[in-house]
Amino acid sequence: MAIENTKNISILNANRQDVADEESVRQLEYIEKAKAQVSFLEKELGRKLTACVTTFGCQMNARDSEKLLATLKLVGYEETESEDADFVIYNTCTVRDNADQRVLGRLGQCSNFKKNNPHMKIAICGCMMQEDSSVEKIKKSYRFVDLIFGTHNIYKFAELLYRSLNSDKMIIDIWKETDKIVEDLPVLRKYSFKSGVNIMFGCNNFCTYCIVPYVRGRERSRSPKDIIRECEKLAADGVKEIMLLGQNVNSYGNDFKDGNPDKISFAKLIDEVTKVEGIERVRFMTPHPKDFSDELIDVIANNKKIARHIHLPLQSGNTEILRRMNRKYTKEDYLNLVDKIRTKLPDVAITTDIIVGFPGEKKEDVDDTIDVVKKAAFDNAFTFIYSKRSGTPAATFEDQVPEDVVKENFDRLLKVVQDTAKEQSFKYNGQVQEVLVENVNDHDESLMTGRMSNNTLVHFPGDRELIGKMVKVKITECHGFYFFGEIAE
Ligand code: 5AD
Ligand code: SF4
Repeated sequence: MAIENTKNISILNANRQDVADEESVRQLEYIEKAKAQVSFLEKELGRKLTACVTTFGCQMNARDSEKLLATLKLVGYEETESEDADFVIYNTCTVRDNADQRVLGRLGQCSNFKKNNPHMKIAICGCMMQEDSSVEKIKKSYRFVDLIFGTHNIYKFAELLYRSLNSDKMIIDIWKETDKIVEDLPVLRKYSFKSGVNIMFGCNNFCTYCIVPYVRGRERSRSPKDIIRECEKLAADGVKEIMLLGQNVNSYGNDFKDGNPDKISFAKLIDEVTKVEGIERVRFMTPHPKDFSDELIDVIANNKKIARHIHLPLQSGNTEILRRMNRKYTKEDYLNLVDKIRTKLPDVAITTDIIVGFPGEKKEDVDDTIDVVKKAAFDNAFTFIYSKRSGTPAATFEDQVPEDVVKENFDRLLKVVQDTAKEQSFKYNGQVQEVLVENVNDHDESLMTGRMSNNTLVHFPGDRELIGKMVKVKITECHGFYFFGEIAE
């Protein structure tokens, strides 16, 4: 993470006795204890200690990593992007097997750094650690790892870090489930002007291919008061854009009992978040098509602060495959929903996720998916090859699809996805768009890079002073997945 500014570390309302729960206070005490430890080590080694946080997977993991980094910085580590550091932590993803393989590869390389630095600590956490087989593999073949924990007890990181600094043994702390949401932990934001905000954790949907419900547990929503308070604090810190995060944001609040005043719909929640003073744009990730309400469409239509982007995972365009995936909608349901969105929200970009190679998927089924891509005219789509996750129902389905068939279908789909996205992008040519400026262009220092409301990147001549500001940019050149433009005022 690039930002060195410790001002971005916020301990949300930690001094408010009514909200700072006992657990977060305990963790702050462990931060102090670990700080003494790190300072002692610094003196012994005659140098500052460094820490590297490596994140795999989704925005929820990215947000968790911001919490890990804040704790490490408060304890006294300097942030580095190199894994040749004194504390290295991998925040893992296990949605697809290639994510698992990438972590193990990186972990293997890391052991070489440890040979030259006996003080080095290596930790691994996140979704992959919620699977017994992964933990067993680390225990057996990666003995040099010092600390392993999971998704449910990440709030205990300060305590685990302290314990690890005082132990030569591998510490393993994995919880199977939790109903606990610990508020008020330190967070270090990657960007000063935008931030993710978790509104719920876990998933109850059990799509048959997906490991998430097993590693993230059941749905738990944060109270609207806590969410709004976090947004207010972020806005006061200079944040302009908020992304509300959850595995299935439109089941927000379903876990609250009827009659509980906290039980409000996701549509109501997002509307409330846009009212927070200073917040200029609000995004959300990820909704499930089966729960996408008319109320939400209306709220988006009437509220220009809600980003003009809806990520609506399709997964497959074939009704029978969707049934076997347990997605609870048909091809027609999905297309009707897209129609409704396109009619009521003509300026909204729709993007999606698609899986190719789900057990039993035939060429004609992929034709259905291609048909939906064309009819829905997705502005972009992430296409994934089905990855068999043990423990999920689909892993036991007998009709797994041969690799060469999957590859052929995948390439066919990808071509249509790219063509459709490119076609869609031309509609922005000549338009003036509100752009939140994020950074200096990676390849050309005279250009700035920002994000439009629909989430696409725009590069335009400008000054770094603009970073974090909302500017109007006229789109002049369209390059499919990104644009060039010029400041319009
Ligand atoms: N194989 C391939 N892709 C998967 N996804 C989830 N589980 C799997 C799997 N087993 C994809 C879905 C989801 C996205 C985050 O990851 O498309 O929307
Ligand atoms: Fe996985 Fe389905 Fe839950 Fe998304 S909704 S996290 S795909 S089980």
